[in-house]
Amino acid sequence: MSHLKSVRSLGWIRIASLVLALSGLGWMATAISADGPNESKHKPQYNSNGELLVPKDYRSWIFVGTNLSPVYKKDLPGGQIRREIEEAQPGSFHQIYINPEAYRIYLETQKFPDSTMLIMEVYSAGTKDTKGFLTAGKFEDKRVGFEMAVKDSGRPGGGVPWAYYNFKLDKKLRPAGTAQAKPDGKCYDCHLKHAGDDNVWVQFYPVLRDRD
Ligand code: HEC
Repeated sequence: MSHLKSVRSLGWIRIASLVLALSGLGWMATAISADGPNESKHKPQYNSNGELLVPKDYRSWIFVGTNLSPVYKKDLPGGQIRREIEEAQPGSFHQIYINPEAYRIYLETQKFPDSTMLIMEVYSAGTKDTKGFLTAGKFEDKRVGFEMAVKDSGRPGGGVPWAYYNFKLDKKLRPAGTAQAKPDGKCYDCHLKHAGDDNVWVQFYPVLRDRD
C-alpha cells in the first residue's frame, strides 16, 4: 500500500467509527426518551428578561399533595394577610405538582436536583355547585393563584438556587405567561427556615413524605 493510500484508508476508518459512535448516541437518546414521555425537556425556561415561563404540560407532572386552607403563624411574613383571606372565604385548596425527573431523583437520592420545579395552584373552596347537588363538603372551584418554586443554580440574574415566582392570572384565570423571581425576603427565607427538606414542604406532601 502506498503511503497516500494508507492515509486515505485511515481516514475512512475514522469516518466509519464516527458514524458508529453517532448511531450509538442516537440509540442511547431513544432509550432515554423511551423512559418516560418527554421527560428530558423539563428544564426551567426563561424569556430574554430573565422571567420564568409557565411550563405547558405541568398537569401531567407528578401530583404530590393538596393542602386545605393553610394559615401560618401571625408573626411570619404574610401570616396575618393569609389568616384574613382564609377567614373571609370557605377556604382554599393548594395543589402541588413536581416535574417527573426531579420526583424520580428525589425518591432515589432524597435530594432535589438542579432544575427541580414545583407548581402550586390555588383553588377557592366552593360549597355550592351549579346543579345544587352538594348539601355539604367543599370542592375546588375557581383558580385564584399560581406560584412556582424552582431550583436552578444557573438562573438569570444569579443568586441562591431556589427562586420563587407568583404568576398573575388573566381574565380566564389562567396564569399569565411569565413572572419575575421574588426577592428572597418575600418567599425564600421562610421556605429555607421552616420547610421540611431543602426548602420544600415535604412534610405536607404524602407522595414525597411517605415511603410506602
Ligand atoms: C411564612 C412562610 C412562607 C412564605 C413567606 C412563603 N411561603 Fe410558600 N409555602 C409555605 C408553606 C407552609 C407551604 C406549604 C403549604 C401550602 O401553602 O400549601 C408553601 C408552599 C409553596 C409552594 C409549593 C412548593 C414548595 O416549595 O413546597 C410554592 C410554589 C410556594 N410556596 C411559593 C411561594 C412564593 C412565590 C412565595 C412568595 C411570594 C412564598 N411561597 C412565600 C410558606 C411560605
